[in-house]
Amino acid sequence: MEKDIDRVLLSSEQINERVAELAREISAWYGENEVVIIPVLEGGAMFSKALSQLVNMPHAICPIKLSSYQGARSTKTVKLLEELSISLAGRDVLIVEDIVDTGYTLNFLQSYLRSRGVASLRTCVLLDKVSAREVHVDINYTGFIIPDEFVVGFGLDYRQRYRELPFVGILKREIYDSRST
Ligand code: IMP
Repeated sequence: MEKDIDRVLLSSEQINERVAELAREISAWYGENEVVIIPVLEGGAMFSKALSQLVNMPHAICPIKLSSYQGARSTKTVKLLEELSISLAGRDVLIVEDIVDTGYTLNFLQSYLRSRGVASLRTCVLLDKVSAREVHVDINYTGFIIPDEFVVGFGLDYRQRYRELPFVGILKREIYDSRST
């Protein structure tokens, strides 16, 4: 497994420390307000679990399933794979996403959620590949800005593998260059 990793970009300690800082910032912002946390599945599941255990404000967790990536490339066509099960009208909503790359996924999700009449919408991402951005997205909380490399671990996958790694690492190029998608 770890033989497929070129190098570790963020250790488990660095991630945990940063998640705790983000949780403090987020808790301070919302105070006692009840928030709906929307983890973006599957990648955002591990990050949002870690975050939701550390924030102090009351919150509901309502995951959403989107698809935009095939293998190691963004398709730019984002699809909602399942409708949300609760009404968001008048609610304070926090999107929790693993990574923002081109921005298409978050851009789509933010427009979708705004159209559901939320009272407020904020976004927290663990990783931001700023230099790969193609469309604008509003981000309120960022864990780490990272280079434009394909990374796995801490929830991030390549073909559903490597999600369980406790660190974020750059996947060896030969792993995905040898595949067509
Ligand atoms: P965007 O639409 O290009 O911003 O891509 C966002 C989505 O692509 C994320 O939710 C991830 O699922 C996936 N993604 C982008 N970059 C990576 C990466 O380096 N590793 C794994 N998944 C990625």
